[in-house]
Amino acid sequence: MRSYMAPGAAVPRALSTGLPTAMAKTPKSPLKPDTRLVTAGRDTKSQYGFVNPAVYHASTVLYPTAEDQVAHRSRYQYGRRGTPTSEALEQALAAIEGDACAGVALLPSGLAAISTALLSVAGSGDHVLVTDSVYRPTRNFCNGVFKRMGVETTYYDPLIGADIATLFKPNTRAVFVEAPGSQSFEMQDIPAIAEVARDKGAVVLMDNTWATPLYFRALEKGVDMSIQAGTKYIGGHSDIMFGCISANAKTLPALKTVMQTMGLCVGPDDMFLALRGLRTMGIRLKRHNESGLHVAHWLESRPEVLRVLHPGLASDPGHKIWQRDFTGASGLFSIVLKPTSEPSVLAFMNALALFGMGFSWGGFESLVILFDCGEYRTATRWAPGGPTLRFHIGLEDPDDLLADLEGGFAALAAAK
Ligand SMILES: Cc1ncc(COP(=O)(O)O)c(C=O)c1O
Repeated sequence: MRSYMAPGAAVPRALSTGLPTAMAKTPKSPLKPDTRLVTAGRDTKSQYGFVNPAVYHASTVLYPTAEDQVAHRSRYQYGRRGTPTSEALEQALAAIEGDACAGVALLPSGLAAISTALLSVAGSGDHVLVTDSVYRPTRNFCNGVFKRMGVETTYYDPLIGADIATLFKPNTRAVFVEAPGSQSFEMQDIPAIAEVARDKGAVVLMDNTWATPLYFRALEKGVDMSIQAGTKYIGGHSDIMFGCISANAKTLPALKTVMQTMGLCVGPDDMFLALRGLRTMGIRLKRHNESGLHVAHWLESRPEVLRVLHPGLASDPGHKIWQRDFTGASGLFSIVLKPTSEPSVLAFMNALALFGMGFSWGGFESLVILFDCGEYRTATRWAPGGPTLRFHIGLEDPDDLLADLEGGFAALAAAK
C-alpha cells in the first residue's frame, strides 16, 4: 500500500531530508480523518511488505562511492537529518494536518516543540504576545530564554479576541495562542486573533495539544504553526516523550533553519511509538471526548461543585466559540469546588483509586491534579471562587469513574 494524499494536494517534503514524503496514489475522493490516520505515512513496498516501518537506530550513512560522498548524493545524509522512520512519521502527521501544512518538525518533547517554534519567529529586539492562560513552562521560556535574548513578551487576556490589535507594537512578530488553556480552559477566538495578526504582519503560533488537528483545524483557521505535545494524545500511552510542529509555507523555512542549526531530532523508538499511537488516535479521542463529557455533566450536578470548566458544556462561557470552531473535545477539563478546606480536597484526591495523581495527560489512564493559576498569571486575575482540580478522563468505563468520584466526595465530606 502506498501513502494516500488528498486529490490535487501537493506532495509534502520531509522537513529533515527535503525529499518527497509521499508517493501519491490518489484516491477517488478526499479521505476522512480516521482513514488518513490509518493510511498516511505507509509505504509498505520499501518495508518489504511489513505494515509498519523499521525502527532505524542510525547515525552514520555510508555512501557507495567517493563521488557520491563528495556530492552528498544519497537519499539520507545522516541520522539526525532524517531516516525512513522519521519520514514515515512526518508524512503521517502532515497528512492529518491537511493541505495547508508545508512541513512537520519532530522534537523530543512538547516543550521543545514550543520553544523551537518560538525561536524560529523572534530574535533580539522583537516583541511577542502570549496568552495569559498559556502552559506554564511556555511562560518560563519567554520569561527566561527570550528575556535573556532581548525578546520582550506581553501576556494578554485569553478572551481578548480582535482587541488584541491594541497590544501590537511595530516590532511584534508573533502571537502565541492556546485554546482552551490547559488548566483554566478559556476558549480563544483564534480566527479573530489570526486576522489581526495577519493584518499586522505577525504570525500565529498555537499549542493545539488539547484538540489535536482532529478536533481543531488550526492551520485552516489562520494559525501559521500548530504545535502538539505528542506526549499526550499522539503517544496515548504515557510512555514516550515527543512533540511536533506543523508549519505552513510562510513559517517553514525559518523553522527548518532552527531545526538544522540546533541539531534537533527525536530518538527512533519514540518516533516509532508516536506513529503507532497516531494510528489509533481517532478512536481514542472519540472515547476521551464522550467519557469526558459524561463525567463533566455528572460533576456539574454535584452539590460540592461550583463550576465545571469544559468548553463542551453549554454552561461554559467558551461554548459558543468551541461549537463554532471545534469538532470535538478531549478528555481534559477542570472543576471549581465550592469553598472547602485544603485537607478535605486532599482527602478527596487520596480516596480516588482510578485517578492517578500526576502531571501530563492524554494517556489511556485517568488523572487528577490540584492547581492554582493565580500563582503565575500576570495579565488577568484568577479568582475562581474555590479550589480547582484538573481531571483527565481516560479510557476506563465512565461508570467506574463516577463510582470512584462518588467515593472521593464521601471522603471530602468526612474530612470537612
Ligand atoms: C498544553 C501543554 N502543552 C505542552 C506540554 C509540554 O509537553 P511535554 O511534556 O511533552 O514537554 C504540556 C505538558 O503537560 C501541556 O499540557
